[in-house]
Amino acid sequence: MKTTSDFLKMKAAGEKIVMLTAYDFPAATFAEQAGVDMILVGDSLGMVVLGYQSTMPVTVADMVHHAKAVRRGAKDTFVVVDMPFGSYHGDSNDALKTAVSMMQETGADALKVEGADDVLAVIAKLTAAGIPVVAHLGLLPQSAGVIGGYKVQGKTAEQAAKLLEDAKKCEAAGACAVVLECIPHQVTEMVSASLIIPTIGIGAGVEADGQVLVFHDMLSYGSHHVPKFVERFADMGSEASRGITGYVDAVKAGTFPAARHFFTMKEEALDQLYG
Ligand code: KIV
Ligand code: NA
Repeated sequence: MKTTSDFLKMKAAGEKIVMLTAYDFPAATFAEQAGVDMILVGDSLGMVVLGYQSTMPVTVADMVHHAKAVRRGAKDTFVVVDMPFGSYHGDSNDALKTAVSMMQETGADALKVEGADDVLAVIAKLTAAGIPVVAHLGLLPQSAGVIGGYKVQGKTAEQAAKLLEDAKKCEAAGACAVVLECIPHQVTEMVSASLIIPTIGIGAGVEADGQVLVFHDMLSYGSHHVPKFVERFADMGSEASRGITGYVDAVKAGTFPAARHFFTMKEEALDQLYG
């Protein structure tokens, strides 16, 4: 399994880091087999798996439940788990307790938290306790209400400078990587060049040290809104619809199950049965 020091080496060598979200056993298995470097059990599961409108209703228990399944499917891949909305603000001792139990219950390799400012103390505290922390800057879905929706961040010189400062502070606080979400690619380039830790971009351009995408978005699996920066690498949704429609039609038409799906009793037993 790759570790945080391998990710530093990959960045230094210019080798791209591939991260993908996963929320269950089969997805984790596919990701590991395909050579994904890091799996993120993102709180995006609130939308793509649980059908909520945002990440806000997602609980620590939800994250733990899904992360355990992912861990079982990807034993040899670095697994990062999102701390959900409301679980790391307030008292930093409570944040640490929550983080420790998330690590112990799930067997994760790292946790991810959104933002800088007040969150820097959380990054420092968790890191000091031995928990690798991935930071997350730019568009912060857990703060969508405050930001005023899901919009590109860091477009002005002032916002870009603040983002760079925040990224440096996350690194200084001990973060092992930083996710950059939905920012201009020039800002990604600047931040990536200024940090030793890798940047993992989503909607942030090719200049990031790695990329992350949401499993259901990149495979077109589900009917939720898919953002502009996503490439559809496959169309699982169409395949699923095709398969399920075929099943419905076959049962209605009586063509499923066919003889090859049947189990057959021996003649003697049948004779006995009818007497
Ligand atoms: O929850 C998630 O999937 C994420 C990625 C978009 C980075 O945080
Ligand atoms: Na997230």
